[in-house]
Amino acid sequence: MDVHEAIKAWKPCLAFQLRPLQEDALQRVLNAARFASSADSQQPWRFIVVRDEESKRKLAQAVSKGHFLTKAPVVLVALGVEEASAALLGGYMLAYPLDVAASIQNLLIAATAEGFGSCWCTEFREDKLRELFKIPEGVRVVGVLPLGYPDVAAPTNGGHTPRKTLSEIVGYETYTW
Ligand SMILES: Cc1cc2nc3c(=O)[nH]c(=O)nc-3n(C[C@H](O)[C@H](O)[C@H](O)COP(=O)(O)O)c2cc1C
Repeated sequence: MDVHEAIKAWKPCLAFQLRPLQEDALQRVLNAARFASSADSQQPWRFIVVRDEESKRKLAQAVSKGHFLTKAPVVLVALGVEEASAALLGGYMLAYPLDVAASIQNLLIAATAEGFGSCWCTEFREDKLRELFKIPEGVRVVGVLPLGYPDVAAPTNGGHTPRKTLSEIVGYETYTW
């Protein structure tokens, strides 16, 4: 699958097959996260790979409507090292959530190319995840991402929300909307 196909093929996946992920494919997906760009090249992203059933059960309880996470063979907890990103972008924006989001997007595209399904979960109780995974001060939870082979028959694995057209999102020379 070339990169354009993988970008377009990505869609949220909330139901997974039971079979475990192929380890070499998982490592390729995690490796893709490393190559995102980050402010000052701080690379503030960290990923906790959760496979243990009991940990997944507790993790699922810390995420709103997260019960489906127990069915994913792997759940990633995406973290951002806040203290590594002191500069405010444009004078107002924290860098680390953007950096971590860029690495997550790399990871999701690579996951799609490997035949994995995934989705973003951001309605989590950070305090619970912090306790569960011993996450220290200065490191923030940015997202929770299940990974697994999609259950193609599941109604929750639908298609994409329709995309805005290019002219709706791209303006030339001036603000056009
Ligand atoms: C930053 C971010 C946060 C998101 N948080 C959630 C979430 O907490 N729960 C969820 O079900 N989907 C979450 N999503 C996924 C989108 O809501 C989901 O992909 C969308 O409903 C499906 O539309 P799409 O085709 O545009 O992706 C998040 C996506 C992004 C980029």
